[in-house]
Amino acid sequence: MDLQAIIKARESWLNWKNIHPLRAVLSELPDIPDAELILGDTVTLRSEMADSKARAAVTRAARMMKPWRKGPFDLFGTYIDSEWRSDKKFNLLAPFMDLEGKTVADVGCNNGYYMFRMLEQNPKSVLGVDPSPLFKTQFDLINRYAQAPHLRYEMLGIEHMAGFEQTFDTLFCLGVLYHRSDPITALKSLKSALKRGGELFLDTFYIEGDAPVCLVPESTYSKIPNIHFIPTVTSLEYWCKRAGFEKFEVLATVRTGPQEQRKTDWIEGQSLADFLDPKNPERTVEGYPAPRRVYIKTYRK
Ligand SMILES: C[S@@+](CC[C@H](N)C(=O)[O-])C[C@H]1O[C@@H](n2cnc3c(N)ncnc32)[C@H](O)[C@@H]1O
Repeated sequence: MDLQAIIKARESWLNWKNIHPLRAVLSELPDIPDAELILGDTVTLRSEMADSKARAAVTRAARMMKPWRKGPFDLFGTYIDSEWRSDKKFNLLAPFMDLEGKTVADVGCNNGYYMFRMLEQNPKSVLGVDPSPLFKTQFDLINRYAQAPHLRYEMLGIEHMAGFEQTFDTLFCLGVLYHRSDPITALKSLKSALKRGGELFLDTFYIEGDAPVCLVPESTYSKIPNIHFIPTVTSLEYWCKRAGFEKFEVLATVRTGPQEQRKTDWIEGQSLADFLDPKNPERTVEGYPAPRRVYIKTYRK
């Protein structure tokens, strides 16, 4: 797999007609020489010197880049109240991570919120992989000022990870597996990118029960169109085994609630409350069990 050729070809995605105006605004943003990145639940850019014109230009750019799914961020005083409180997922996983000096990748990294948070643990490098030119543009906005030296973002997908033969100590693949029509192939691709003994953090929707079975939505699940398989935890463990992982550790199981996912000013359209049956929040609008996530850690053999 010629990753460089794929990366090069995908640069043209930044010229798509909905993305090009955002890139133009990004390229015209003023320098803010004392901009400082402050890590914490809200990933914050701060400056003493930025004048109101510079702050307004950043806010305008951020507003043009809606929807902001992951966050929160604070850009020189403008609070981006993203649809997801991604700090909750990060803080749940953080006690199980030790990224000091590690070569890390976040597969399906969205706008890079977790990549910035990972800097708290001083990794050697973090590669973010996500095929979305919009989310890359959001990342580029933050990193225009954060200038984090150890972060890199490529518009690649999980299917390209096999091209990073034995590169990473730690991989994250959060909220992506249920979007894959062949989850075992996706897991094998992740495994190939890990060094021997390397670790994978993963979360996915799951259904309750011990049997090695999956829910296959007839069309949408929770109004999301491209959800293919929702496994029991047992099925997920067997997928990981078949893909070449060992030592399957369940870190947590969580029912997604409105404290984590909700409609805000920074997204268009609907959010969790609209996806559940108004008469029975235990069920999605399609009648399936309401979203629950399992967080796991597993290792390449
Ligand atoms: C539900 S979001 C999860 C985002 C983030 N990892 C999290 O857990 O909060 C799914 C992400 O997967 C990305 N994605 C879509 N196709 C992908 C692919 N083929 N490989 C990797 N990521 C993909 C989407 O752009 C989106 O950012």
